[in-house]
Amino acid sequence: MQAMNRKLLLATLALSLVAGTRPFPAQAGSTNQLKAPEPPPLYHTNAAHDPDGLGKFYLGREIAQVMGHAGADWLERPERQQEERPDILLSALKIKPGDKVADIGAGTGYHTRRMAKLVGPEGAVFAVDIEPEMLESLKAGATAAGLHNVKPILGTLKSPRLPPDSLDLVLMVDVYHELEFPFEMMQEICRSLKAGGRVALVEFRGEDPNVPIKALHKMTEVQARKELEAQPLRWVETIRTLPWQHLIIFERSAIPLK
Ligand SMILES: C[S@@+](CC[C@H](N)C(=O)[O-])C[C@H]1O[C@@H](n2cnc3c(N)ncnc32)[C@H](O)[C@@H]1O
Repeated sequence: MQAMNRKLLLATLALSLVAGTRPFPAQAGSTNQLKAPEPPPLYHTNAAHDPDGLGKFYLGREIAQVMGHAGADWLERPERQQEERPDILLSALKIKPGDKVADIGAGTGYHTRRMAKLVGPEGAVFAVDIEPEMLESLKAGATAAGLHNVKPILGTLKSPRLPPDSLDLVLMVDVYHELEFPFEMMQEICRSLKAGGRVALVEFRGEDPNVPIKALHKMTEVQARKELEAQPLRWVETIRTLPWQHLIIFERSAIPLK
């Protein structure tokens, strides 16, 4: 009887090989079709890396370590007025009363407070950070300045948790280079912009050896454009009137996002 069964099994295998079919039903979850190739990973890691970085790379750039809340005083240093000229930056942004804007990686709210005055009571500034301590000092600063249109948001590493299709402008000062998930963050930021809404990216100039900032905390214009133009964003202009930084403006495409 056993010999009979073995003969039957061998005959089934032989027939299925000739017919090019599977001898047994496919297992749950498997498929006879060819799989599409996996897309290449967005990020890669390298054990040999800059001590200021995460050892994680995106489009050829190493991502910098996050400035912790221990650096809060540095963000409010009086010399910043001369080193970064926030007055020139803000006038270049052409913010109007009533605008809805976001300050991503707002820190202590250095730019949030200034933008809150420009958008006025009809407008709003969504101030996003991942460090609760930064948001606490941001709230205290906004309250002390009598600003009621600042909306603090505790974001995550991958999302600023902003309302969709609602913003005229997203400002990112000295933060993009330290986003641990730049691709995912920018996708979410694009979703939060109205069609035609703008992203204003401010980074210390990586091309300029005279800018006294650590290498990973600077970005070149070429690299910044490569990364942001991988999103539904169009480069509009680069403003070069700041002492140490470039201000790069992008616009969200009018095509509805998925
Ligand atoms: C160098 S500080 C700049 C703060 C502010 N933009 C300024 O110019 O004063 C960078 C800030 O970005 C925040 N940050 C880093 N990754 C972030 C993320 N994924 N989402 C939101 N904030 C982030 C940090 O916690 C820190 O407060």
